Amino acid sequence: MSEFPEFQNLLNRTPEERDQEFQRHGRLKHLIFGSQLTTELLDRLCRSADMIRRLARDREGNAELRNLLPNRRAMLYFTQPSTRTFLSFMAACQILGITCNEVRDPKMSSEVKRESRTDSVRMFSSYFDVIIMRSQMANLAEVCAYMMNDLEGTDRRSVPIINAGAGSDEHPTQALLDMYTILRTFDFDESSMSRPSRLGSLQKEYPDLTTGAANKVYAFCGDIKRGRTVRSLATVLSQYRNVTMYFITPPHDQLRIDDDLRSLLETAGVTVKEFESLDEVDDGQPILEKIDCLYMTRIQREHNSDATEAEIASIDLSPFKLSVERVAKMKSFAPILHPFPRDSIVGEIPTEIDSDPRAMYFRQARNGMWARAALLVHLFDVNEALMDAHVRLFPAAVRSASSPSRR
Ligand code: CP
Repeated sequence: MSEFPEFQNLLNRTPEERDQEFQRHGRLKHLIFGSQLTTELLDRLCRSADMIRRLARDREGNAELRNLLPNRRAMLYFTQPSTRTFLSFMAACQILGITCNEVRDPKMSSEVKRESRTDSVRMFSSYFDVIIMRSQMANLAEVCAYMMNDLEGTDRRSVPIINAGAGSDEHPTQALLDMYTILRTFDFDESSMSRPSRLGSLQKEYPDLTTGAANKVYAFCGDIKRGRTVRSLATVLSQYRNVTMYFITPPHDQLRIDDDLRSLLETAGVTVKEFESLDEVDDGQPILEKIDCLYMTRIQREHNSDATEAEIASIDLSPFKLSVERVAKMKSFAPILHPFPRDSIVGEIPTEIDSDPRAMYFRQARNGMWARAALLVHLFDVNEALMDAHVRLFPAAVRSASSPSRR
């Protein structure tokens, strides 16, 4: 039985039924699962992120952005450690003129007086207009979204809930920024109309290369089963045509892809293959030469039981680490992503890789700020005002910013 028996019936429904609960009139009301990020919504959010990024470059643009949501307040309720998600949401709020406050240590809140987490969140909704929450409890954000829906149904105050990382389950805003990074990378500057075409020159070496997320081989390396970022991103990528996914994991049941995710991906038409080293071969060719996008992850030791800790500690992790030699085998355009933090002791990505042009992880983290700002613009329905400001300040850029899907 879950910790939320009153919501158990809702939690037991199919993923599609649960996603429906978080929509209103074709828009997001809450963001709880990666599966809510449809290709159409991603295109809209990426276009907004591009506009925000461009406007933020100058003083007048920044003033326009700060004027979008100056009447809104956000609660950052992060009871699990975070650097990037917390700070990029805070920066996104600041960009848009949203005032934020935070609860990071529940020992400093009335939870120490046995106030329930759901009561705490309902209290936040009295003072704030959106609640962005990270918790070690897989279902807490989902349950809080149902609670807000119940309040809405009885005409009481109800605010959007954003899942900023739930247990080892889901991290949908990480999937959003990962997709923003992937789509920007696989745009190959085509929407900027730059000439000569970068895609054209790459196609001389890789004739099958196309723009967009479709027709690609994605590799996920490291701790897959407990990696909520992998689950959310793989779910989103499964919507695109002709996608192959490699899962490269140490030989341990706590790390390999689980049957649920594998079945979800295969049902969506993804070709799934598993490997136990970055040096393995697929159909006679080294996998490193076939990968279009490599997503590295760290082994998440915080989820280890004492027994698992000892078992995983005895595994040789060198087949799951990048090196200059391994990166040299990869395609010249293939981005290397990592949700970060990376493990400074294990060193799954040694710092010597950081200067390689394919190392995208710092840019990926910065993209989180633009992508999360775009999400807030969508949730508060100020897309029109954003577009107006963008047209006013960057009329020449409008054609490329509103170009069709990067799929
Ligand atoms: N990628 C990510 O979620 O980082 P933080 O844990 O630092 O927020």
